[in-house]
Amino acid sequence: MTEFSDLLRDLIDHRRKHPGEGGQGEVLDSLIFGEVDGRRLSEDELIQNCIFLLNAGHETTTSMLGNSVAMLLDHPDQHRNLLAEPALITTAVEEFLRYQSPLQLGNRLASEDVMLSGEKIVAGTYIHLSIAGANRDPDVFDDPENVDLGRTPNRQLSFAGGHHVCLGATLARIEGQVAMGRFVRRFPNVQADGPAELLGLARFRGYTAIPVRV
Ligand code: HEM
Repeated sequence: MTEFSDLLRDLIDHRRKHPGEGGQGEVLDSLIFGEVDGRRLSEDELIQNCIFLLNAGHETTTSMLGNSVAMLLDHPDQHRNLLAEPALITTAVEEFLRYQSPLQLGNRLASEDVMLSGEKIVAGTYIHLSIAGANRDPDVFDDPENVDLGRTPNRQLSFAGGHHVCLGATLARIEGQVAMGRFVRRFPNVQADGPAELLGLARFRGYTAIPVRV
C-alpha cells in the first residue's frame, strides 16, 4: 500500500503540473480537478479513491473471468450451447455472475432502527449480507443450483443494489461479454488440464490457477 500510494502521489503531482494530459473524461483528471460545492478531494481522499477504484474494478473482473472459464469446464453441455449460439453470451454473463459471484459477502451498518422482513434491526448493528446466498434463493430462481446460460429473468445481485450499486456494473458486463465471447470462439476445444485452485477466501470467490489445454 505504501509503494502504491507513493506511485499514485507521483502520478498526481505530474498530472497537476500537466492538466488535461490524460484527455477529456480521464478518471485521474476528474478526481484531481473535479469540484463539488467548490471543494476538491484532499490528497488522502484522492489516493484512497484511486486505490479503491483500481481494486474494485480489477480483482472482481479478474475473478469473474476466471470463474466463467471454470464454469464452462465444469458444465460441458452449457459450453456446447454457448459455442453453438454465441448470442447467448449476454445471459451467460449474468449466469456466470449469479452462480459464482466474485464478491460473496457485503457489509452494512444500520444507521437507524429498521424493520426488515419482520425483524427489528437496532441502530449500530453490523449486518453481513450473503450475495452468494441471495443469488441461489429458491424463491427467486428456478432450480438455483443448476447452471443455465440462457436463464431469463436473472435477477442476480452480484453488483449489489440501492444507493451503492456497483459503479462499474455496465463496464464489467461489457468486459465479461467481450472477453468470454472471444475466449469461447478462440479456444473452442478448451479442456481442464489438472485441478483448479480456489482462492479459498470467504469474501472473494475466484481462482489462483485453472490449468487448461487449448
Ligand atoms: C464483475 C465485476 C464486478 C463485481 C462483481 C462488482 C461488485 C460490486 C459490489 C457487490 C459492490 C457493492 C459493494 C457494497 O455496496 O457493499 C460494488 C461497488 C462498487 N464497484 Fe463494483 N464490481 C465489479 C466491477 C467493477 C468495476 C469494473 C468498477 C470500476 C471500474 C467497479 C467500481 C465500483 C465502485 C466505485 C463501487 C462503490 C459504489 C458506491 O459505493 O457507491 N466495480 N461492486
